[in-house]
Amino acid sequence: MTATFESPPHPEALRAGAVAALSTARDRTDLLTSCVEDDQLTAQHSPLMSPLVWDLAHIGNQEEQWLLRAVAGREPMRPEIDSVYDAFEHPRAERPTLPLLPPAEARQYASEVRGRVLDLLERTPLEGSTLLDAGFAFGMIAQHEQQHDETMLITHQLRRGPAALTAPDPSPASDAASLPREVLVPGGPFTMGTSAEPWALDNERPAHQREVAVYWIDTTPVTCGAYLEFMADGGYARESCWDPVGWALIQRQGIEAPLFWHREGGQWLRRRFGVTEPVPLNEPVLHVSWYEADAYARWAGRRLPTETEWEKAARHDPATGRSLRYPWGDTDPTARHANLGQRHLRPAPAGSYPAGASPLGVRQLIGDVWEWTASDFLPYPGFAAFPYREYSEVFFGPDHKVLRGGSFAVDAVACRGTFRNWDYPVRRQIFSGFRTARDAGPAAGGRG
Ligand code: AVJ
Ligand code: FE
Repeated sequence: MTATFESPPHPEALRAGAVAALSTARDRTDLLTSCVEDDQLTAQHSPLMSPLVWDLAHIGNQEEQWLLRAVAGREPMRPEIDSVYDAFEHPRAERPTLPLLPPAEARQYASEVRGRVLDLLERTPLEGSTLLDAGFAFGMIAQHEQQHDETMLITHQLRRGPAALTAPDPSPASDAASLPREVLVPGGPFTMGTSAEPWALDNERPAHQREVAVYWIDTTPVTCGAYLEFMADGGYARESCWDPVGWALIQRQGIEAPLFWHREGGQWLRRRFGVTEPVPLNEPVLHVSWYEADAYARWAGRRLPTETEWEKAARHDPATGRSLRYPWGDTDPTARHANLGQRHLRPAPAGSYPAGASPLGVRQLIGDVWEWTASDFLPYPGFAAFPYREYSEVFFGPDHKVLRGGSFAVDAVACRGTFRNWDYPVRRQIFSGFRTARDAGPAAGGRG
């Protein structure tokens, strides 16, 4: 939705924005759950993922709980299904054994909820409570659906069999050859997080000052070509590059390349949505764990950026000292700025999207690949769980690492300069990549 700090949107624009966000999400959900036969919706394609039909009814159930019950005070439509679609009651591996609504019923339920929600949205003033202000609850539910649309796309990537989804390749201008390898970000204070973004989720709040030392950060995410150099140099056999937990993991699981890669006749190939193709050298590397990203960075004599460094690179405008909503400014993302929203089913080549560059010239911070950071997922000072502890708070701590910037698979509504994602550092089925950083202070670089 269109909102800037300077001009809060008109109530009718807010309402239209909420309707548009909800319907964009539903179009995507419909595509992801209609491009395969029903038996593929009820099957479990990986123990890491839910059956697609679980995601579908869970989307409807969350929408019913937050919009029809919490906001509008309605009675449950089907009280017996709440527990089936409660993500905390049932881990993903267990979900195929639950009494799930069959595909036709799940579709019917989700669309009945949606009909009532659109009706409610017509008649509800978008103010007067923290849930309603600026249409927050509607925006939260659109973001929730889009997050599950990314999850469902991961399930499609894990699914065996012929391709069910296709999309044109990205073709934006790339001037990668003339870009500097890295960009110097000045030290000093900047504003991290937000108190103004109307649909920001609880973990992005509140805005607060952070101080960072000067550092260098990669202009683009690390490419498959660069990652292949690490592999060719024995990266997966160099214990000194690896966090001990990651080292044990790659030994135990025999990992020697990103997920979905295999070697055939001296060439590295990858499987992508049912198609096998040569690994594209100039594309950001995808499907690596935090441990792999961390090992690559150490091999390169560098490190992962902290979450604070990532956000300063993405939002700090040295000309004004202000933090922007996005690297390019305060306007919502368009197809010129970033590879988002499953318009393409792959990252764009490194160096793409010059219009999406930050004031300092850092590229592709938004879209393409989620970027692992060095940081654990922790609350900001002044954090308050809202509207439920299970969105963020229960995940805070050292078990999860923060990912930033969004991937080609996430919609703009669930991606912005302040948006925080998190996962276990072992995870690699997610659309994860990374960029690297290094210290630039007087203590670094062998001076003194
Ligand atoms: C923020 C992507 C980690 O998928 O577990 C979906 C989003 N929360 N339903 C997840 C979420 C509740 C969450 N991530
Ligand atoms: Fe969910």
